[in-house]
Amino acid sequence: MPIRNTKERWGSVAKFFHWTIVLLIIGQFVLAFMADSLPVGMQKLAVLARHKSFGITILALAALRLMWRAANRSPVMPSTMAPWERLGARAAHALLYALLFAVPLAGWTMSSAKNFPVSWFGLFQLPDLVAPSESTFETLHEVHEILAFTLGAVAILHMLAALKHHFIDRDTVLRRMLPFVRVPGVCAVLLVGGLALQGDGLAATPGNATGSAASGTLQFRFSQAGAATVGSFGKFEVTMTTAADGTPTALAVTVATDSLDTKDKDRDTALRSSDLFDVKQFPRATFTADSIRRTAGGSFEAIGKLTIRGVTRDVTLPFTLAASAGGTAPGRLLAGELPLKRLDYGIGQGEWRSTEMVGDAVTVLYSVTLTAAR
Ligand code: HEM
Ligand code: HEM
Repeated sequence: MPIRNTKERWGSVAKFFHWTIVLLIIGQFVLAFMADSLPVGMQKLAVLARHKSFGITILALAALRLMWRAANRSPVMPSTMAPWERLGARAAHALLYALLFAVPLAGWTMSSAKNFPVSWFGLFQLPDLVAPSESTFETLHEVHEILAFTLGAVAILHMLAALKHHFIDRDTVLRRMLPFVRVPGVCAVLLVGGLALQGDGLAATPGNATGSAASGTLQFRFSQAGAATVGSFGKFEVTMTTAADGTPTALAVTVATDSLDTKDKDRDTALRSSDLFDVKQFPRATFTADSIRRTAGGSFEAIGKLTIRGVTRDVTLPFTLAASAGGTAPGRLLAGELPLKRLDYGIGQGEWRSTEMVGDAVTVLYSVTLTAAR
């Protein structure tokens, strides 16, 4: 697992900091509640001493984490995220970082005010931050409590957002922060990089390969007044997971429906409206497949679920994979066509249900270069 972050994912150090701090914070709440239920005495002191030592550990880890973050790029947010979602994510992350400092500092200062100097696991003693004072202690006690519960509440919202990314948006945001997810090592990239140029490029890199509108096209062909018409989506993301030998094992596609473009403003407005794609209510279309089989002709079929306009259907998506040496990095060209019926997904309410002027049959055409997430 790479140590440093890349544009696509978090490196092992960032993951280590994130998840160690999460575990320690859960531990902090458990210890605090244990201490609260104990009568004044040795046991309570021992539990609180542990709470303080772990709390100071969190403070130190938070400082190291921010230093590491400053020396590293952070992965980019998926292009399918709306501006308010990006803003919300940034604000929540900034608040979490601020609280990772504020909560332990309030605890430390509170202990000084109570004249309970803080020791780190009995190994060394920390300096007092303020002179003892009962009223300062009382205020800081309140502050520590309020800040700790704010941290808990923001962390829960943050967790729900991460789960939404995974289960509703079906993007890679949660997966790229999870530990133990295999990503290609530099050796694997070097070893198989040459092989990728042979045959159909199957011997590519293990792990995840990603592509987006920047490296390909996603189009839809439909008939309008009897004429074949092509539109495209300007924002989409494709993630293909591969086994160690390069065989694809899973595929995930997210499309921002608002990014549709048929080169006609009025038609695009109609397509975005509630009678057709209803982009306000259904900003994303997704395809996810956890099963991929090889067909007789050497192509592939991804067996999964396609969700458009809130309707999910089982779909078998055919595609071919070929080595592609274009661009800055060698990649694999995933391409194919998927025939659909728009009315199966409710694309056509009211007058648009009629297939007289706009046919029911739509062909989705995709051609995108995937590069290994390094
Ligand atoms: C991120 C780290 C921390 C978290 C999440 C946390 C959380 C909490 C919570 C939820 C309580 C119970 C609030 C109450 O009912 O009083 C508590 C109490 C306490 N915390 Fe922390 N804490 C952290 C760090 C620290 C640190 C670094 C110190 C001291 C060095 C500290 C000292 C205390 C003390 C002494 C109490 C008990 C106050 C009392 O009831 O007498 N905490 N903490
Ligand atoms: C006390 C608990 C938690 C704290 C303090 C916390 C804090 C943070 C912070 C500060 C970041 C931003 C990282 C950066 O930009 O440098 C982050 C990212 C992240 N966290 Fe947490 N987190 C907590 C719990 C969780 C939980 C329970 C989950 C999942 C279920 C989670 C999932 C994520 C994910 C997926 C990211 C990456 C977001 C991205 O790739 O843009 N976190 N966390």
